[in-house]
Amino acid sequence: MNLDELNNLKTEILEKAKNANSIDLINDIRASYLSKKGKIPLIMSEIKNVSVDDRASFGQMINSFKKELTEIIDIKIKSFSKTEKLQTFDITQPGQWNSIGSSHPISIVTDKICNIFQKIGFTIAEGPDIETSWNNFDALNTPDDHSSRDSQDTFYLKNKDLLRCHTSPVQIRYMKSHNPPIRIISPGRCYRRDTPDSTHSANFHQIEGLYVDENVTLADLKGTVSYFANELLGESVKTRFRPHFFPFTEPSFEVDFMHPTAGWIEVLGAGLVHPNVFENVEYDDSKISGFAFGMGIERIVMILYDIKDIRDLYENDLRFLKQF
Ligand code: DAH
Repeated sequence: MNLDELNNLKTEILEKAKNANSIDLINDIRASYLSKKGKIPLIMSEIKNVSVDDRASFGQMINSFKKELTEIIDIKIKSFSKTEKLQTFDITQPGQWNSIGSSHPISIVTDKICNIFQKIGFTIAEGPDIETSWNNFDALNTPDDHSSRDSQDTFYLKNKDLLRCHTSPVQIRYMKSHNPPIRIISPGRCYRRDTPDSTHSANFHQIEGLYVDENVTLADLKGTVSYFANELLGESVKTRFRPHFFPFTEPSFEVDFMHPTAGWIEVLGAGLVHPNVFENVEYDDSKISGFAFGMGIERIVMILYDIKDIRDLYENDLRFLKQF
């Protein structure tokens, strides 16, 4: 093949490639000209037969032929695969939606309860899950032989610290670091050595409340709790105080709310802060008084959403969680 012949072939084939209107045609051209056994490698291998004068130009021309043809073919293939995709795309098919996450029911109810108390001036104070025995028991006036101290009930760590079994130690931390007046609400995780069943979990959540000021009385506690019941469950909801015992309050109560469908439900433990607790945090209880309360969040969540098994709240089953 001489220089002219090569020039003609180049013009012809580049033109053919540019006009190729199907992926099959393009693949044919690539196979016949660019593959190992194709025409261009063959011409290159026979360059020794070209006259010495023309050989350099011939070499350049065959190289540019190869390069230009490769470029055209690459561009064509790209554009064909795009239109092919478009042709197989069915615009009548429903779209694929990435579902949006939602808050966990425990978070929803925790936020709701915190908001109710924030509206009347309570602020949020949090404490750590790992507590000292002193904050969790001693400072809260819990007797040495109280059953909750038993290692069958509480998770102890190697150094005598423990996983808090209620949120009440946040009261102690807060009073140790602040002076009255105090109005705090403390949501958080708690731990007990309970065997899981439909109403028990070794890991659950509580919200603690503490109000300390001059002349705080049982009437303040009752007013606050009634306000809370009405905000949580509705205007007509009644509350009921039953005498009870907690080491850190005196007098102590369990408080029930009259739920429109579930009837009387036990919602909180509460009482007036015990003088020994004030003494433990070095408050002068001749000048101040206070009330405290604590409630389990899971119970309230289960009543509000009619959930029968507490374990549903921890299993992260999207079919369950997507309902909230
Ligand atoms: N700590 C109690 C419990 O875990 C709940 C409680 C009761 C908290 C009375 C209080 C209170 O602050 O005054 O069952």
